[in-house]
Amino acid sequence: MNDVLDQQAFRYSNDEHPSLLCEGIPLSEISREFGTPLYVYSKKQIIENFHSFDGTLKASGKEHYVSYALKANSNVELLRVLAGEGAGADVVSVGELLAALAAGFPPEKITFDGTGKTDREIEISLKANIHAFNVESLEELSVINGIAERLGLRAKVSIRVNPDIDAKSHPYISTGLKENKFGIDMENAREAFIFASKQPALEVVGIHVHIGSQITSLDPFIKAARSTVKFVNSLRVKSGIVLEHLNFGGGQGIHYRNVVRHPLLPKDEFGEEGEYVPSLSEFVGAVLPILDQTGLKIIFEPGRAIVANACALLATVLYTKANSKKKFVITDTGMTELIRPCLYEAYHQVAPLELAEGVTEKVDIVGPICETSDFLAQSREMPLLKRGDSIAILCAGAYGYTLASNYNLRPRAAEVLVDGSEYRLIRERERVEDIVGLSLSEKTILSGYEV
Ligand code: LLP
Repeated sequence: MNDVLDQQAFRYSNDEHPSLLCEGIPLSEISREFGTPLYVYSKKQIIENFHSFDGTLKASGKEHYVSYALKANSNVELLRVLAGEGAGADVVSVGELLAALAAGFPPEKITFDGTGKTDREIEISLKANIHAFNVESLEELSVINGIAERLGLRAKVSIRVNPDIDAKSHPYISTGLKENKFGIDMENAREAFIFASKQPALEVVGIHVHIGSQITSLDPFIKAARSTVKFVNSLRVKSGIVLEHLNFGGGQGIHYRNVVRHPLLPKDEFGEEGEYVPSLSEFVGAVLPILDQTGLKIIFEPGRAIVANACALLATVLYTKANSKKKFVITDTGMTELIRPCLYEAYHQVAPLELAEGVTEKVDIVGPICETSDFLAQSREMPLLKRGDSIAILCAGAYGYTLASNYNLRPRAAEVLVDGSEYRLIRERERVEDIVGLSLSEKTILSGYEV
């Protein structure tokens, strides 16, 4: 089951004083050098994740590309790695588009998603000659057509359908139901394709479907694949519209539990094996034969599955305190660095950087932010933690930094990339003066304080 787990870049050293490593380098060494909060990435893990997806598709011989969803993590150094491996890019803003182009993704492998593309974003994407817009409404089709006409260009469009399928993920990250704002429902989708095919400056090249994120069963994907294939075939037979590609979106779930293991780490309630999550090859094996019935080129847009398990967010314990109900471990890292626990009640494994024999206890691991929802883990059995200890919050590579904020006027954390026996800073820690919009003279006053 765990083809991803077996390749984990993060593991404990195999000695008397187990120390958490990234590609063999002790995270405590990196944390000492750069301070915390700190995101530490493994280049090897990102490359392996990409190829476990892309490789299964390559082996099938099917014409395809894997379009990495930048919203999961858009650090340009990581983007360069993925562009270098042959990935495409799925973008949702002009910022992501420019980052993708700068990192070297070829425009013919860039797709532009999102329910609210601005005129400027459409214009810049047209000029950049991207592969396709994934279009979400009739009105958007008209707008793109108008802008393309004005520029004397033709826009390649793929229409996003909403198959009304429950992804059985958290409601905030489910996108394939009628009550969600995404796509055009199946009843109106044919009309949208016919409308698009009549617009002089549009070229209808594809269909797009994405039903949600962190999907941990194959069933919703299989249902979405069947429904899309049925629609594509009927569009061809009944309306004579022939497409070039089928973009099946992203959403593949990953393991968040028991990601690193050690006999000294307390077991969580899921036990040794962790919860069941289909592997990427199981996913491809289940949906590809269905999607292949269309004969179209296939695009996938994974984000989380490529970068999530390639990062540990490092934090330092500042204080501990207990009342008659709870014990709190207060760290220097919180919802400003990782909002997923607060936003989706998401589980992230927390592991001390150094392990020692001893008792464990149930604690809430919280941040320094003035919000009750500022927690990283709740009621979590942990080895005893004390002031000055360092911990890693695992699988923080997707929707970690990209959802980070400056709330409480906290500068965003630094990012480090480990590559074999080397590591280097790939984004500097922000400074207060970067984020408060100071005048030059105010900056001069502050410069004496920041170290
Ligand atoms: N394609 C489209 C159209 C999307 O909207 C998304 C994610 C993806 C691809 C990539 O999905 P992935 O493979 O990463 O599941 N902030 C949330 C996740 C939001 C996902 C938004 N759309 C979280 O932290 O769980």
